[in-house]
Amino acid sequence: MNKILSKTYFSEKVVKLEVEAPLIAKARKPGNFVIVRVGEKGERMPLTIADANLERGSITLVVQVMGVSSRKLCALEVGDYITDLVGPLGKPTHIEKVGTVLACGGGVGVAPLLPIVRAFKEAGNRVVSVIAGRNKDLVILEDEIRASSDEVIIMTDDGSYGKKVDLAVTKGPAIMMKFCEKLTRKYDIPTVASLNALMVDGTGMCGACRVTVGGKTRFTCVDGPEFDAHLIDFDEILARLGGFKDTEVAKLHDVEVKQEDA
Ligand code: FES
Repeated sequence: MNKILSKTYFSEKVVKLEVEAPLIAKARKPGNFVIVRVGEKGERMPLTIADANLERGSITLVVQVMGVSSRKLCALEVGDYITDLVGPLGKPTHIEKVGTVLACGGGVGVAPLLPIVRAFKEAGNRVVSVIAGRNKDLVILEDEIRASSDEVIIMTDDGSYGKKVDLAVTKGPAIMMKFCEKLTRKYDIPTVASLNALMVDGTGMCGACRVTVGGKTRFTCVDGPEFDAHLIDFDEILARLGGFKDTEVAKLHDVEVKQEDA
């Protein structure tokens, strides 16, 4: 049985619980989690340890009300007991001095990120943290993350705090742009892709650079090279690029043989 020592609401549905667990507080490492159970027949819930206080012999858990079990846990008040709590479990995060570390967390995910950010900072790294939430109220642990980061970028989906991405521009291998577009589509971010097509005449005559955009044929040389990424048929582009691969390998081989003979 582990006692709840303090309870703070980050928002209506996100609660920070400080739980008495002196041995876990001592042994835990960044990345470790615990499994908690509320009630004898309760579901076992894994929760990453967000923080620990050795003097108070406590660990901090951040819980979002999602289903029955998390609701039961969040309903506990200071002085109540968690039926059981096992840990620390899992392999700790591998921490070493690598240089610059980019740490990204969204919503309640910022809680387990905090000990990792601290550990990388203590190991001598430059830490850039990106923390996000759907809106300002759902951005949590900002001060704590700031204290261990060299730079902090805050993003909110609705732009109510920090930054909001209004436009994405992508340029690079077609496969990369395809997945970039897939991601930005999920978040409704207008995206421009700059295509690198095969070209011959460059004046819209030969058709070598044709692509399908919004179901219509377009020529990269005269209509592009920039198009609305959400309308581009990247699969067609990838298939066409692949179609020339064998010819290109064969040509390259010929050139190399000629160079050797020369
Ligand atoms: Fe020929 Fe664009 S390069 S149509």
